[in-house]
Amino acid sequence: MDAQSTGAYGRAYARSSTDPEGFWLAAAALVDWDKPPARALEDAGAPLYSWYPGAELNTSFNALDRHVAAGRGDTAALVYDSAMLGTVRTYTYAELLAEVERFAGVLRGLGVGPGDRVIIYLPMIPEAVIAMLATARLGAVHSVVFGGFAPRELAARIDDAGPAVIVTASGGLEPRRTVEYLPAVAEALKTATHRVNAVVVAERAGFAGTREEYDGTGGAAWYAWDALAAVAEPAGPVPVAATDPLYILYTSGTTGSPKGVVRDNGSHAVAMAWSMENIYGVGPGQVMWTASDVGWVVGHSYIVYGPLIAGATSVLYEGKPVGTPDAGAFWRVAAQHGVNVLFTAPTALRAIRKADPGAAEPGNYDLSRLRHLFAAGERLDPATLQWAQAALGVPVIDHWWQTETGWAICANPVGLEQLPVKAGSPTVPVPGFAVRVLGPDGKQVPAGTEGNIALELPLPPGTLRTLWGSDERYRAAYLEVFDGYYATGDSGYLDEDGYLFVMGRTDDVINVSGHRLSTGAMEQAVGSHPAVAEAAVIGIADPVKGQRPSGYVVLKTGIEIDPEVLRAELVEQVRSQIGPVADFKDVFVVDALPKTRSGKVLRKTMRQIADGVPHTVPSTIEDPDVLEALTAVLRPSSAQSRSTQSRSAQSRPGES
Ligand code: COA
Ligand code: AMP
Repeated sequence: MDAQSTGAYGRAYARSSTDPEGFWLAAAALVDWDKPPARALEDAGAPLYSWYPGAELNTSFNALDRHVAAGRGDTAALVYDSAMLGTVRTYTYAELLAEVERFAGVLRGLGVGPGDRVIIYLPMIPEAVIAMLATARLGAVHSVVFGGFAPRELAARIDDAGPAVIVTASGGLEPRRTVEYLPAVAEALKTATHRVNAVVVAERAGFAGTREEYDGTGGAAWYAWDALAAVAEPAGPVPVAATDPLYILYTSGTTGSPKGVVRDNGSHAVAMAWSMENIYGVGPGQVMWTASDVGWVVGHSYIVYGPLIAGATSVLYEGKPVGTPDAGAFWRVAAQHGVNVLFTAPTALRAIRKADPGAAEPGNYDLSRLRHLFAAGERLDPATLQWAQAALGVPVIDHWWQTETGWAICANPVGLEQLPVKAGSPTVPVPGFAVRVLGPDGKQVPAGTEGNIALELPLPPGTLRTLWGSDERYRAAYLEVFDGYYATGDSGYLDEDGYLFVMGRTDDVINVSGHRLSTGAMEQAVGSHPAVAEAAVIGIADPVKGQRPSGYVVLKTGIEIDPEVLRAELVEQVRSQIGPVADFKDVFVVDALPKTRSGKVLRKTMRQIADGVPHTVPSTIEDPDVLEALTAVLRPSSAQSRSTQSRSAQSRPGES
């Protein structure tokens, strides 16, 4: 059922459902077009839809030039706050535009034109934002890869996206170490089969690898950002079709091969502008800080495009919620930059709460400008919600979305109307999203009944257009699961008031510290160890990270190996094949994995047992004794510390 509200939200939602064409054509006025849209939706290619066919615009023009032209060139566009370096640098709109024009000139000089791909593998430094906007300025397509991914993951993205250029930096700063990017890029280029023309390096002090050392690797010329920018001819915005791709962002699916979510230019700009005003209530003169990473969709939408398209000020934070230097870091940044709306992941709030349970730190800072705290990336658990609300004295808003949708499917749209908060719910469907809960037969289930969360087609502007290179994969993964719907892969229920409760995934995707990861990819990495016959990786509940991956391995017959040695080797294997971001640390050697008679590993049942939640054993189980034996390993795992786990889980190696 749709949410009942007679206020601004209710009216907007009703109009978006009864007259989507009129609603989204009106919203298009929030954007500057080279050729304005005559209509909103093209459904000739259904179930693949196009928004604003025939219209033209440039996204970087909307994020920069138009604000400067409106006389707001001296307003702060981007505030780069590095807790790692202890520095702050503010870029006005005019300054950011100048940097972007210059770097667009650099890319053009390297042969990048409309439709070409540029991979951006950068830490949280302004060059990341500049490179994204410069790519968009040329009508080219960026694909940002999160710095915590290993070279192999980068190589997979290089081969899928086929970039002309890679933009990177000497390295990134983590609290306990530096991350050398150049050897990672070099290794990825050697692994990939696609050849890139050029690598541009934003040089930072304090890293071992140098551009000169790697120049030529992978058949590419490696250039210094500053040297090229110093002589580049500034490039103007190139108008592109609204339906042309702006970016590809890879996300984890159930298989080891990531999915390249394609976002278009026109409908994305409209969705960003509309959501800034109506969901977050942020406009020119206001400050939004999204404490995420530009490598994730949250960073794309609300560090870069949303705030800049809206003409607001965006904070780019290089640091962590705790330890840089303490649990007051977020409140220091919010106070120092006069943040009006802060957006972060629940895991970050749990990390702060763990370090500062009595919420002493917020009292040390002037947070009087803070209006709302938004959270997404995983469910905001009621305890964390209540803690944050009491600590900050502002409404704390959970909202639910995915890389694929690009912006919130369900939210408390405070820009329109603030609805009552229900702890554990991301509130109500955002205008444009028709949220339904379906049973296995594809029919809607009654309010209060859990099922598959699906979205009626067409999806609104700003959502994925397709998967890069494969409409077929898009259809098979999302559109053919339930006829007429986009399958979100999440399960949950709608209550009598139309509030959604998201309970978890229906597939093998897990969420670690707000990062979406594939257990399938981890299983592949673990399974490639010579001692391992088969492996299952499941996500089990973790008090700070939400979930953490836990691996269960069966050894090949006759293998004798110290479980501690095996654990260290498997951890290293996942780190080198997927990246440190996988945070894979738990390994259990078991005799066998529980399976159905058709050979499917009962991962969901294993997860339920580990989390201590009620579970049903499928009647198709092959050997109930295997599950019973494993229960002893799974149950203590949720209570024990990591250091003791592999010992406690030790079974008899070689008896598989
Ligand atoms: N580049 C390279 N490595 C990275 C990285 C990056 N950009 N980001 C994380 N890593 C590494 C970390 O250094 C760590 O490596 P280690 O095992 O050598 O220590 C590993 O990946 C796991 O890091 P992280 O997930 O940050 O865990 P943590 O225990 O260090 O910190 C939190 C826990 C909760 C503080 C942290 O995960 C966090 O800030 N989460 C918020 C996430 C977020 O904003 N998500 C966005 C979705 S909206
Ligand atoms: P990502 O694509 O990385 O943004 O991850 C999207 C997935 O994270 C969703 O499909 C959900 O499983 C989960 N998720 C994101 N936000 C929320 C939320 N507010 N509540 C519950 N789950 C969420």
